[in-house]
Amino acid sequence: MKEQIEEIKKKALQKIQEVKDSKELNDLRVNVLGKKGELTQVLRGMGSLAPEERPKIGDLVNKVKSQIEMQIEKAEKEFAKRELEAKLEKEKIDITLPSEKVKRGSKHPVNRMIEKIEDLFVSMGYDVVSGPELETDEYCFERLNLPKGHPARDMQDSFYITEEHLLRTQTSSVQARTLMKYKDNPQPIRIIVPGKTYRKEDDATHSHQFCQCEGLVIDKKENHVSLADLKGTLEIFVKEVIGDNLDLRFRPSYFPFTEPSYEVDVTCFKCLGKGCSLCKQTGWIEILGAGIVHPNVLKMNGYDPDVWGGFAFGPGLERLTMFRYGIPDMRYLYTNDIRFLKQFDRKED
Ligand code: DAH
Repeated sequence: MKEQIEEIKKKALQKIQEVKDSKELNDLRVNVLGKKGELTQVLRGMGSLAPEERPKIGDLVNKVKSQIEMQIEKAEKEFAKRELEAKLEKEKIDITLPSEKVKRGSKHPVNRMIEKIEDLFVSMGYDVVSGPELETDEYCFERLNLPKGHPARDMQDSFYITEEHLLRTQTSSVQARTLMKYKDNPQPIRIIVPGKTYRKEDDATHSHQFCQCEGLVIDKKENHVSLADLKGTLEIFVKEVIGDNLDLRFRPSYFPFTEPSYEVDVTCFKCLGKGCSLCKQTGWIEILGAGIVHPNVLKMNGYDPDVWGGFAFGPGLERLTMFRYGIPDMRYLYTNDIRFLKQFDRKED
């Protein structure tokens, strides 16, 4: 029996050297040490031994068992190490490989324009404020000196949601909102309001949604905020935002919330004043409405027109953007063609 045990041990230790992976090793463990394993079988035959032999053989079997177990454990560790190494090798990352290009979006040119305008006016001490796009008739028209039934309401075709609510047709609504905000404690105001506006237009040169940027400056009358200040402000605005080789022209016009009112033209950016199809041979292109704030607007919104006064202006932003970047057709701004948008990433702002 002793020889039999030694034989099992010899064979087992040899096999441990030969196994190729942890599965084979496990099979070996079951075959030798398991319930029906070779060594266990030998122990079963102990009954036939002389009583004084039994402890000796028992001792030997236990020793052999732990020797085999130790070797199996050692081999197991070796396999685990090798398997881990193989895995690491397989998953190795080559940090010298060039990275995949990450696709990034592009800022829309109108948004670039808004940022440019904000930077300029903030540098001149203005605040940037916003107001609701779903506006009341009261703020969009009535408080701007446009009572119901006023013929000038026909200047803007509106999207009404209810009798009282509409999508704002002009950022001028925020003039009234700002004045009303301070009505109990009137104070100087210097704001710009970039934002979306909506009109029921569907011809080829207009969109039903576009952007404007209202401007409002209010101060004590004794500080003489005048037409000259409006002109100076708009000159800086045009030079900074569109280009410094352009002239301005003030044409008398009519808006219910300003008196006097003007439409302001700039030299056509395409022909530089010579006359072309874009400017309809006039050499000028209209960019904004402006004027001195009407006393009724001040009065209706809690500012005493004998004490306070100022100017307002409201350019459309799509046109300005087209001038700045030389975009020939407004529809490019709405189709969101990524090839079009990408071009502006390369432009210096
Ligand atoms: N809100 C006017 C429009 O949409 C533009 C405008 C004209 C704004 C005169 C003003 C202004 O602030 O003073 O046509």
